[in-house]
Amino acid sequence: MNAIEIERLTKRFGTYAAVDDISFSVREGEIFGFLGPNGAGKTTTIRLITGVLTPDAGSVRIRGIDIHRHPIDAKMQMGVIPESSTVYGDLSPEQNLHLSGELYGMPRPLREERIDELLQKMGLSGQRKKPVRTLSKGMKQRVSIACAIIHRPAVLFLDEPTSGLDVQSRRLVIETIHQMNKEGSTIFLTTHNIDEANTLCRTVCIINRGKIVAQDRPEHLRRMFESTQSVEVSFSRPVQTTFFAGEGIVRAEACGEKWRIYTDNPDRIVKYLVHQAERESLAITSLAITGPSLEEAFVQLTECP
Ligand SMILES: Nc1ncnc2c1ncn2[C@@H]1O[C@H](COP(=O)(O)OP(=O)(O)O)[C@@H](O)[C@H]1O
Ligand SMILES: [Mg+2]
Repeated sequence: MNAIEIERLTKRFGTYAAVDDISFSVREGEIFGFLGPNGAGKTTTIRLITGVLTPDAGSVRIRGIDIHRHPIDAKMQMGVIPESSTVYGDLSPEQNLHLSGELYGMPRPLREERIDELLQKMGLSGQRKKPVRTLSKGMKQRVSIACAIIHRPAVLFLDEPTSGLDVQSRRLVIETIHQMNKEGSTIFLTTHNIDEANTLCRTVCIINRGKIVAQDRPEHLRRMFESTQSVEVSFSRPVQTTFFAGEGIVRAEACGEKWRIYTDNPDRIVKYLVHQAERESLAITSLAITGPSLEEAFVQLTECP
């Protein structure tokens, strides 16, 4: 059985289709990455899948249960960690967890046992009784996660879970994802970070402007992403395109005084440029390396189907 099945899902805001006729499925037990730049439609998709928004067309099934026909049954299967936390600021982590556990129908003794375990695991024991609004962003995110997993959901949704977190909280979030997955949960996470998708996910689906542009194993996408690294350079005198004919150069583009050279090996290109400039008695006036660009990868993905 698939954990998630999306068929021809569409959501419009006014005339703009933020999610535009997308279909995909997520196998049970997977860590599935939903990758795309800001504004691509990731949050809208998560809201549709988790029943927060109603689609204009299409269907969503969670472990075979249609979210719009049987919202409560479907929601009992899932835990959701939204983009911005929905925990109650005036309540303590402990109170938030009780509330969440009650919503999922957990009896008090079971809740208490699980709350102790979660607070400890999330490094929140010292903050147990403090109002959540007094906690750091990272701590708040940990409370949000604990609330979402208190009932050990079969499918866990996380919307950009590590975005803007301190190193320690980030590590905890990633550990929790791995552990939940090891215990059998399917994980669906959104991110705009290629490296994160790469290290965490077995399958990655890429969305841009509401449409799915690729679905693959991250290793396969990695190679393409790598060739979107670039070196930006400018010289004391204008040079011709032929100057950038070296090996390892994917493409060279002039932008004003500067040249942007796409490559899978920036180090090699920098050495090549220095060497060439020396030979032609040119001074390098600026030089910078930029990592893989998701936007550039999208251009390549949409250009060559
Ligand atoms: N409630 C809304 N009303 C109008 N437009 C929206 C709303 N929510 C999202 N959008 C628009 O839909 C597009 C996708 O947004 P979103 O799903 O939040 O993207 P992402 O999470 O990938 O950054 C954006 O252009 C955004 O401005
Ligand atoms: Mg978003």
